[in-house]
Amino acid sequence: MGFASPNHPIPLLTSPLKGEEIDSGGLVPIRNIAVGLLLLIFILISGISGASAQEESVCIKCHGAQTGRLAAPVGEWRNSVHAASGISCHGCHGGDPSDMAMAMSPERGFLGVPRDEAIPGFCGRCHVGVKDDYLASAHGRALGRGGPHCVTCHGSHAVRTATPELINSRDCSRCHEYGRAEEIKSAVIDTDQRITGIEQSLAALHRIGITTREMEGELFALRNDFHRLFHSVEVEKVRSRTAGFQADLAKIRGRIAAIEAELNRRKLWGGAVVALLVAGGILAWLLHRSYIDDKKAG
Ligand code: HEC
Ligand code: HEC
Ligand code: HEC
Ligand code: HEC
Ligand code: HEC
Repeated sequence: MGFASPNHPIPLLTSPLKGEEIDSGGLVPIRNIAVGLLLLIFILISGISGASAQEESVCIKCHGAQTGRLAAPVGEWRNSVHAASGISCHGCHGGDPSDMAMAMSPERGFLGVPRDEAIPGFCGRCHVGVKDDYLASAHGRALGRGGPHCVTCHGSHAVRTATPELINSRDCSRCHEYGRAEEIKSAVIDTDQRITGIEQSLAALHRIGITTREMEGELFALRNDFHRLFHSVEVEKVRSRTAGFQADLAKIRGRIAAIEAELNRRKLWGGAVVALLVAGGILAWLLHRSYIDDKKAG
């Protein structure tokens, strides 16, 4: 993004306020500054909304033209968190997304559809930490013997952002009672709300052009660590780790509060400067008037 265009006439330092011909020349620099500011705002807005379009792979082209169980994944995947992050069919199933004829050949790395027991490894190629936590848990130990795997809880194509809503009596009492699940849910919900609150504050700062990338990165890592804690399905562990997460969140919150306080200070100063400028402008106009009156009189 190029902010500083050499063609922008922003004559703050070069304005020829030398005294002669003020009546028209005095206005032009201000108009130019206004145009420059508008341009800057336009560049900012178009830069923020300039998301890149995704290219269609041969997998999507061909499966999109099929019917039934072969086409269904395309529509389900489109609204998924994976589509939003650029993880397409071949990211999970392998294969060659650029070669219509060879797309699904094993020589091009096509993996096909995993058996149930292979699913944690299949998803765990990318979600390594979650896979390890899961395999060490009561659920992982029961894999292949009635225990749930990744797709049981998240689905395969319509995978959504993970929230505590995934823990609910309908889904979690299919195989056992809901009691312990409920305890885990209440332990994670408070922290989840704090994370959402901080995400919103950061987004608000980002919208007014404050650089929040570093804090966003920290929060993202923290959020992922926190949401993966669930997979241990151990109430005590979830409780004890939650305290540590809340302390880290409080630190980020503190940094945001400091930025917000600084912004408010600047707003006050900005108001004072504008008031001064307006007063100065009136004064200049009065002087100018009396100069013209003098000329007419003299
Ligand atoms: C030219 C059309 C075409 C292209 C290109 C194509 N597929 Fe397929 N795909 C099919 C058809 C037809 C089937 C069902 C018959 C079969 O299994 O061979 C299928 C089956 C599948 C299956 C299920 C296999 C099973 O064992 O049930 C998966 C998964 C899959 N495709 C993924 C992909 C991925 C990933 C790509 C891109 C790298 C891709 N396909 C490209 C037509 C296509
Ligand atoms: C996040 C990983 C992931 C992505 C991305 C993904 N799949 Fe799959 N897919 C799976 C898993 C896991 C299964 C097996 C479990 C199931 O059937 O739901 C599967 C099953 C399938 C099947 C077999 C369905 C059946 O009922 O037999 C097809 C066909 C398929 N996928 C095609 C695709 C196509 C086409 C895309 C891209 C639009 C895609 N997949 C994207 C993970 C993925
Ligand atoms: C090729 C890498 C890859 C594979 C394979 C993969 N994912 Fe993902 N997954 C991602 C990326 C990238 C994201 C988005 C960034 C993030 O949130 O971590 C994501 C996000 C997710 C999320 C949302 C996380 C959140 O922040 O709320 C879930 C849930 C998820 N994946 C489940 C699965 C499941 C289930 C499978 C297997 C069926 C799978 N993934 C396979 C890369 C992958
Ligand atoms: C497909 C069946 C199935 C589903 C669905 C399922 N579980 Fe389980 N769960 C098991 C099995 C099997 C065990 C291990 C044996 C046992 O403790 O009953 C287990 C154990 C547990 C334990 C006890 C762990 C321990 O060591 O004390 C908790 C907590 C738990 N599950 C939570 C959940 C939650 C939360 C959900 C919903 C998000 C869920 N389960 C969904 C099958 C399932
Ligand atoms: C018993 C249901 C269940 C199973 C099995 C399960 N998950 Fe989850 N998963 C959840 C719940 C519930 C959350 C959200 C917990 C929270 O909000 O704190 C979650 C969160 C996630 C996240 C978000 C955390 C992060 O690091 O971004 C990812 C990714 C994920 N799961 C992937 C997987 C993968 C991969 C597997 C298989 C190895 C798996 N899950 C198995 C229920 C499950």
